[in-house]
Amino acid sequence: MTLATADQAGNPSARIVLLKGADQNGFTFFTNYESQKGKDLAVRPHAALLFHWHELERQIRIKGMVGRVSSTESDEYFHFRPAASRIGVWASHQSSEIPNREFLEEAEKRFAADFGVAPPKPEHWGGYRLHPTEIEFWQGRPSRLHDRIHYQLEGSNWRIARLAP
Ligand SMILES: Cc1cc2nc3c(=O)[nH]c(=O)nc-3n(C[C@H](O)[C@H](O)[C@H](O)COP(=O)(O)O)c2cc1C
Repeated sequence: MTLATADQAGNPSARIVLLKGADQNGFTFFTNYESQKGKDLAVRPHAALLFHWHELERQIRIKGMVGRVSSTESDEYFHFRPAASRIGVWASHQSSEIPNREFLEEAEKRFAADFGVAPPKPEHWGGYRLHPTEIEFWQGRPSRLHDRIHYQLEGSNWRIARLAP
């Protein structure tokens, strides 16, 4: 899915992240808390998610507040991932500038030697969950008369409205 965040000054950034869970609690993804998105979410805990299915002519847009998942939940997912991915989390200080590719490969070797097959989860890595307050379903239809069904959370009820395409 596409995840859009904004920094303190309101400058937006968008990137793809893996949706790891979607349930009554919200939408979960995992990342480096010190990455650009992590810094954005620390100062502005609001984000937008976007899904697009070209073949189905469908789009879903979601907005909401974002919070970190529990460290237990982050630990569980971290340890479920292959050892190489866990080492990669240590080797890559995500979104920081690095001199060249060798720098990354050296860091990977160093951490693999230090941790062997059981790298622990670093403090700066974990999950976020977006709690939706708005969801819009878009369905392509003939003659550009597309459907747009918008859900807005009001208190504990969802207000549903149809928007002009
Ligand atoms: C298919 C795909 C899946 C990705 N999944 C993730 C993910 O789950 N978590 C993550 O941190 N980055 C993921 N990335 C990398 C991000 O798009 C991005 O490059 C990285 O998180 C740094 O973003 P930032 O500098 O805006 O924080 C993925 C990229 C692609 C293309």
